[in-house]
Amino acid sequence: MKILVINGPNLNLLGLREPDIYGKKSYSDLLRLISTACENEKIDVGFFQSNHEGAIVDAIQQAYGVYDGIVINPAAYTHTSVAILDALKAVALPAVEVHISDVDSREEFRQISYAGKACIQTYKGLGFDGYIEAIRFLKKYLTENHA
Ligand code: DQA
Repeated sequence: MKILVINGPNLNLLGLREPDIYGKKSYSDLLRLISTACENEKIDVGFFQSNHEGAIVDAIQQAYGVYDGIVINPAAYTHTSVAILDALKAVALPAVEVHISDVDSREEFRQISYAGKACIQTYKGLGFDGYIEAIRFLKKYLTENHA
């Protein structure tokens, strides 16, 4: 089972960026945490991070035929990007949305998620653990329904 974890803009600055909201741990810490969880779950994991919308669209397109599912935190593009939504719909790979913070309790402009409309599940406000929950959910989903 192969899963691609995609992170959007500014998530490369985890640890530095608004630590009150996103925590003090870095993007490398996040990758280490996910890699360990995937090793335990016997999942092959790939990572992609970009600050550019089109690069994220390209990564989603290139996942087709290579990965069985996607975990995605589109970051700010969550709330603006129809292109990322369309890419997820185009490849039709099962995708799970993650947000480190609880977007529901934040600004009004964070209340809409375009990418989320193409996702089978969303985890928000769980910090880094949201990614682990997303991976476990995706594994269960793929094993039970669509392996
Ligand atoms: C985020 C929430 C978004 O609203 C924000 O733009 C981000 C990170 C999160 O993980 O909580 O960059 O996706």
